[in-house]
Amino acid sequence: MTDSLASLVSSRLRDIPDFPAPGVLFKDFTPLLADPRAFAAVVDDTAARYRGRVDAVVGIEARGFMIGAATAYALGVGFVPVRKQGKLPAETESAEYSLEYGTATIEIHRDAFAPGARVLVMDDVIATGGTLVATCDLVERLGGKIAGVEVVVEIASLGGRATLGGRPLTSMLLV
Ligand code: PRP
Ligand code: MG
Repeated sequence: MTDSLASLVSSRLRDIPDFPAPGVLFKDFTPLLADPRAFAAVVDDTAARYRGRVDAVVGIEARGFMIGAATAYALGVGFVPVRKQGKLPAETESAEYSLEYGTATIEIHRDAFAPGARVLVMDDVIATGGTLVATCDLVERLGGKIAGVEVVVEIASLGGRATLGGRPLTSMLLV
């Protein structure tokens, strides 16, 4: 990751205090998506690092769809959605993960990719890491190999990187 890409990303994020709950400082990346140069820079940088090395991109509902689908297109590989419970129509594999209060469940289609597929997992933000760990578990349960985990923003103080247990994580910006 170059310093100039990190500063471009940083300039296209905005902090929204008290969203979605009081005390949370939300990192909104919609200005980055709306800027064609910044959006392309993020997608092209990621795609360049994985070209020829992955068979599928997995994106996590909802914001992981936005960058994940664009990156899959840039790489010329398929896109696989990981969705919140009850949204995928065919047979699914499920994983539960912790939220600040309670738990949530995400799902993937059982036939999403062939066993042995090299998979790039993408989301907008890693905070506690719960969402990404659950997603990586689903990919591995289906026989996929995690080629990389890519996020735009890593909230370092919440320690998500350590929860990934050595799966290779790259973030465009540490906050
Ligand atoms: C946010 C964010 C990541 C996740 C990170 O998604 O987009 O997916 O939280 O948190 P974690 O590292 O602590 O698991 P959210 O669950 O708010 O859903 P959304 O993307 O559908 O809005
Ligand atoms: Mg999310």
